[in-house]
Amino acid sequence: MGAGGGLPACPHSGVGAAPERPPVRCACCSQQGCRLAAGPTSIASADGVVAYAGPAADCPDSLRELPTVRADGAVLPGFVDCHTHLPFYGWRADEFEARLAGTSYRHLHGGGGIYRSARLLAEATDQEALRFCRGLTGEMLAHGTTAMELKTGYGLSVEGELRQARLAHTLAKEIPQVARVTLLCCHAVPSDRSREDWVEEVCEELIPAVAEESLADAVDVYVEDIAFSVEDLAKVAKIAREHGLAVRCHADQLGASGATEGAAAEGARSADHLNHISYEGVQALAGSDTVAVLLPVSTLVLRAAQPPVVDLIAAGAAVALATDFNPGTSPCLSMPEVISVAASLYRLPPLAAIGACTLNAAWVLGLHEELGSLEVGKRADFVVLDSPDVAMIPYRPGHNPVVETRIGGERVFSRQ
Ligand code: NIG
Ligand code: FE
Repeated sequence: MGAGGGLPACPHSGVGAAPERPPVRCACCSQQGCRLAAGPTSIASADGVVAYAGPAADCPDSLRELPTVRADGAVLPGFVDCHTHLPFYGWRADEFEARLAGTSYRHLHGGGGIYRSARLLAEATDQEALRFCRGLTGEMLAHGTTAMELKTGYGLSVEGELRQARLAHTLAKEIPQVARVTLLCCHAVPSDRSREDWVEEVCEELIPAVAEESLADAVDVYVEDIAFSVEDLAKVAKIAREHGLAVRCHADQLGASGATEGAAAEGARSADHLNHISYEGVQALAGSDTVAVLLPVSTLVLRAAQPPVVDLIAAGAAVALATDFNPGTSPCLSMPEVISVAASLYRLPPLAAIGACTLNAAWVLGLHEELGSLEVGKRADFVVLDSPDVAMIPYRPGHNPVVETRIGGERVFSRQ
């Protein structure tokens, strides 16, 4: 983005041009900007896979017998929410009110915050927790989310984390969305252990047990002065790699810690939050495939410092957007709302935001070969909006623009 917020002409657009492969870092283009035609659009699918996506008038005759959706509103790839804290159980609205009155997130971390959600989950039965989460994932479908991350981090013991990972797997099997599970093994230091002891237990017991049961695709470490260190991240990343798990990192959220540089050095799939990322952190992301996952609703809810989004994009970092859906810092499950907040807070243009919510987000979850864009051969996951103008998404915060959600060509949500 330039200083005026405008975007330069896209070097990847136009007939015959090869769009960038994920993670896409072009400042001006998302794959939709390059590939999605304006005007009435047709999506034809066979066996749940895209056979044609483009202007209705250009759909080849040979495909006209296939199940086809023709839409006057914009058709986008389904949203991929690559950073959520589901499964969780219960809310913390009173903490939100306390923060409005001046209490800090750091202060609440003492006995509330993550520890409180851990207690709530521990006290719920599996059935209670799953019922609670299913209601929320259903709401996510209505807002166009067709794939998502599920994360642990409210277990806070080896058994607790294993239980949450198993709950995530059960939930993943029950919902229409594709879900990938991340083991947020270092979220808060369990109150009965030292940080060092917990990291050792994570490396020696938890990660091997999770890998043995194939319970997760990635690990995540919350690097913060109230949580874990860059050195802890390095230890966990090494063991994760040995077990074939990708690495992710909650980085530089409440303060600068060098976490982003650490994540890039570990070859992490993503560094998430980035509110206090340093100049070196921006350069590290620009020179790597570690995606900058922006979580604008948590920035808004915490009234936190804004990540330097213009600098990240100008430097050439790949950017994704997600909800960070959790009961503490971001009780928001709507990707359209995320796009809206990202536009107003970060001046992120609609097409760039859409690419950040789809193809790049799919890359973060390791799903970019199967979904994240409307390309022939990919899963027919898409949303139909109530307007042909994608700028209506950020322009109308609070409005749900999704009229239809399809997964593998099947309608999983619709409204008039
Ligand atoms: O991404 N800050 C770390 N973890 C979450 C919040 C979790 C919670 O407060 O329950 C986040 O913001
Ligand atoms: Fe998070």
